[in-house]
Amino acid sequence: MHTKQLDQYVGQEVTLKGWVANRRESKTVVFINLRDGQGMCQCILGIDDLGEELFAEAKSLGQESSVAITGKVVADERQIGGYELHAIGLKVYQNAKDYPISNKEHGIEFLVDKRHLWLRSQRQWAIMKVRNSTIYAIHNFFQSQDFVQMDAPIFTGNAAEGTTDLFETDYYGKPAYLTQSGQLYGEAMAMAMGKIYTFGPTFRAEKSKTRRHLSEFWMIEPEMAFCDIFENMDTIEAFLRAVVLEVLEKCSAELEILGRDISKLETIAKPFPRLSYDEAVEILKGDKDVEGQNSLKTLESDLQIVNARILEAKAEIAERDATIAAGGIKKGVINFNQSKIDGLKNELKQLEEEQRNIPNWLKSARDFTYGNDFGGSDETVLTRLFDLPIMVYDWPHEIKAFYMKRNPEDPRFARGVDVLAPEGYGEIVGGGERETSEEWLIEKINEHKLPLDVFQWYLDLRRYGSVPHSGFGLGLERLVAWVCKLDHVRETIPFPRYYGRLEP
Ligand code: 4AD
Ligand code: MG
Repeated sequence: MHTKQLDQYVGQEVTLKGWVANRRESKTVVFINLRDGQGMCQCILGIDDLGEELFAEAKSLGQESSVAITGKVVADERQIGGYELHAIGLKVYQNAKDYPISNKEHGIEFLVDKRHLWLRSQRQWAIMKVRNSTIYAIHNFFQSQDFVQMDAPIFTGNAAEGTTDLFETDYYGKPAYLTQSGQLYGEAMAMAMGKIYTFGPTFRAEKSKTRRHLSEFWMIEPEMAFCDIFENMDTIEAFLRAVVLEVLEKCSAELEILGRDISKLETIAKPFPRLSYDEAVEILKGDKDVEGQNSLKTLESDLQIVNARILEAKAEIAERDATIAAGGIKKGVINFNQSKIDGLKNELKQLEEEQRNIPNWLKSARDFTYGNDFGGSDETVLTRLFDLPIMVYDWPHEIKAFYMKRNPEDPRFARGVDVLAPEGYGEIVGGGERETSEEWLIEKINEHKLPLDVFQWYLDLRRYGSVPHSGFGLGLERLVAWVCKLDHVRETIPFPRYYGRLEP
């Protein structure tokens, strides 16, 4: 019996098993918000129904105590979940004391240290549900289009995405690397099955502490035979649209818990803007406007708005501090003011981060040199101008991986495509058409100073029935971070691994 099934038991007696998310009490009644993993239910435990002994036990329950509560299901629209339980019985599995995560604001480092417990909080619960629905929707899309799910190995002898961020391990006395991407194997599998997708963990030893980088993340990598860059872009677009729309449909309650403005995601139904790298650079540098918006001018006015809001928030904090300091007010009013102050201080932290960031973004956009890859700041500046994902294609070949196909009409460019999510999120998908010429590939492998011998199997794919083919890689955590509008990808994965973090 779970909280999700309560609608079928109105007026009947049921037993719910779960944890005490929080508890309030009066002299004769204890209110418990019971969390059972599927949802929440308010349970009302009255002294007359429970008897004095059990009532005293109910009164003593600490946060996250594990219990079974038996009672009658009563419909009540005002309650979370829409039902409440009028208890007649209580069984305590464990009365937990001093649970470290309370309902007040905690610092992020503290919470990440307590990740094994933090997962129980409502926001984290909602994020995990969105992750789950995203995974389901991804499989749904590919399975319905006859892609075959296949797995690439995790131990590899070769680098796929450059040699700078490999995790090296010992493989029976020989060096091996944890996979950075299943793509090269995906290409082999697509030649066997036509259309495939991999879905697996991926490792990058990136010593960068950004909100987008994990050392271990999950990547979805479809690969399609007889597919060029344009068909690839059509697939990416249809795929992202289908996944986001399915998640919106299935996770409306979770997204509401997260305070997500759904209208910002519904725009995904519109066609994605496709820009060449050249156009994207012009927009970034403020040489070209997007629907009347100029990248640099937008940043400048955003900075003014942020500065004004900081002053406002500081003034409100001072005012509420003064109210508390003056004294002579009820405890409830003090608590109310204190929780407003805590909330404002959190907002202030974010605003001050923007206040520091925007000038850097401006500088980075102004100083951008044509031919470079976009950095995180550049992606932020670009995507703030759009309300749906954009696709940037035809990149200078020097900055893309060795396997990218050159544009036959203009070999300065490689047929890669990056999808940048709006609202400042940046790259969520990287992909492209694959080079089919064995000669060009060998040249590129040498240019990238990669060992040719470990790529012989890959070159075989160009020797026996080579065909035009394309694919892409979606970073699951980056997609979930954007859908949930989170500050950092670390909250999208149960136990995040990033530079400096291995525990818990
Ligand atoms: O752009 P990337 O490096 O592309 C590839 O690996 C290709 N082999 C994919 C392909 O064509 N089959 O990585 C693809 C995506 C990125 O767009 C990003 O979403 C995610 O993987 N990603 C990361 N996510 C979290 N942390 C990291 N350190 C990431 N690095 C890449
Ligand atoms: Mg990329």
